[in-house]
Amino acid sequence: MFERSHFDAVYARTSILDTLRQREYRRLDTQGQVYLDYTGGGLYPESLVREHAELLSHTVLGNPHSQSPTSLASTHLVEQARADVLRYFRADPDEYLAIFTANASGALKLVGESYPFAEGSHFVLVADNHNSVHGIREFARRQGASIDYIPLDPTTLRAPGIEPVLEAGMNARHKLFAYPAQSNYSGVQHPLEWIELAQRCGYDVLLDAAAFVPSNRLDLSAVHPDFVPVSFYKMFGYPTGVGVLLARRKALAKCRRPWFGGGTVKIVSTKADLHILADGHEAYEDGTLNYLNLPAISRGLALMDEIGVETIHERVELLVGYLLDAMLRLRHDNGKALVEIYGPVGTGQRGCTIAFNLIDVSGVYIPFQQVEAEANQQQISIRAGCFCNPGAGEYSLTHTAEAVKRCVAAATSDGIFDIDAYHDCLGSKATGAVRVSLGMVSNKQDVDRFLVFLADFCNRRGDPSYAHAGC
Ligand SMILES: Cc1ncc(COP(=O)(O)O)c(C=O)c1O
Repeated sequence: MFERSHFDAVYARTSILDTLRQREYRRLDTQGQVYLDYTGGGLYPESLVREHAELLSHTVLGNPHSQSPTSLASTHLVEQARADVLRYFRADPDEYLAIFTANASGALKLVGESYPFAEGSHFVLVADNHNSVHGIREFARRQGASIDYIPLDPTTLRAPGIEPVLEAGMNARHKLFAYPAQSNYSGVQHPLEWIELAQRCGYDVLLDAAAFVPSNRLDLSAVHPDFVPVSFYKMFGYPTGVGVLLARRKALAKCRRPWFGGGTVKIVSTKADLHILADGHEAYEDGTLNYLNLPAISRGLALMDEIGVETIHERVELLVGYLLDAMLRLRHDNGKALVEIYGPVGTGQRGCTIAFNLIDVSGVYIPFQQVEAEANQQQISIRAGCFCNPGAGEYSLTHTAEAVKRCVAAATSDGIFDIDAYHDCLGSKATGAVRVSLGMVSNKQDVDRFLVFLADFCNRRGDPSYAHAGC
């Protein structure tokens, strides 16, 4: 329930974010943009780009890992960024390695291809995961590992009772358990306590933190997942093309890279047909690192420290509560609710993301594509579709395995899959959703403009010409 005095007090307490918005994000307000896609990507502060450009203009940087002064200058900045990443996440360098990747997906693929899946090993994952986590099952399957999904409660989109599934794999040799700290679909924050629980059952734990860390503290001195993928553009918007895999040394020692490439080996012999992998992070960083962009990571993390991720968390939580409350109160004149929210409708154990559909005055889903198109016209950036999270989508939109299989078969002819025919086959159910997500410099004006936009759908009917395309 929205309480004005509480709202005002927390809003004032987090006013450093309004100062930040005025200082660094004037472009949002001068252009009249409402940005509500922080789970898609964070927005960069102007000074981060400016200072990074200045660094590049005044420094001569060569390809790292050589002894020339320009190479050493790059190596120094790259290693500084690595140390800053470990420090930011409070990861003890004796326990964790920071392996730079292109993005969170790159980090996840490294785990998938290197984890010692084999006959008799086990991969357990929550249905609520990003596609780049689901994709790991294909590595597991190819090596003969068994795969188990933990289902979701269709109303809360939480995963009750993970223990029985974990316990079923107790006797497996190498076991990996993967879940997101925060769902990129529903915003559900799955318990960090699962890490220790799964490790006690002998699992290595992959905690996908990509959607969590932009507005939550991940403290790796308090929890100890074995693998943690992150994309930095989701935290502070710049640069794209840099992510990290934080990997526990103990878990990484079990892994085997399926290939070698530039920079990952101590020696390679063509005549003796042998290679010896480099140690530590070097064995996992293929080719030349994004060394010109890595220094910006240090600056971005310094900004997160200056603002305090706890402050971002507090502001975002406040605005999400306000938004959820107002969305649920939107009604047609016939008293029917306009908004159907997927997942938790309160702020407890949930983050900045809200997935929903609108239902028109006659009780029919308004196509999510129509909502997105109308938002675009008003300079409101939202996202629509399935958000690369098929599991949360299937549970929230109640698509059964049978319906999915039947419709894939119906939509496939001569080996060609027709996505429109697939969505036609799924019928009157919503085939995707709308997602809004708040972040570092979201403010009440953004939320209020979005609520005015939504309220305009009250008493209207959806436009059926959009209805058959899916996500
Ligand atoms: C929870 C989660 N995991 C992984 C990813 C993949 O991130 P990237 O596209 O940066 O590789 C995303 C991206 O949205 C995400 O939200």
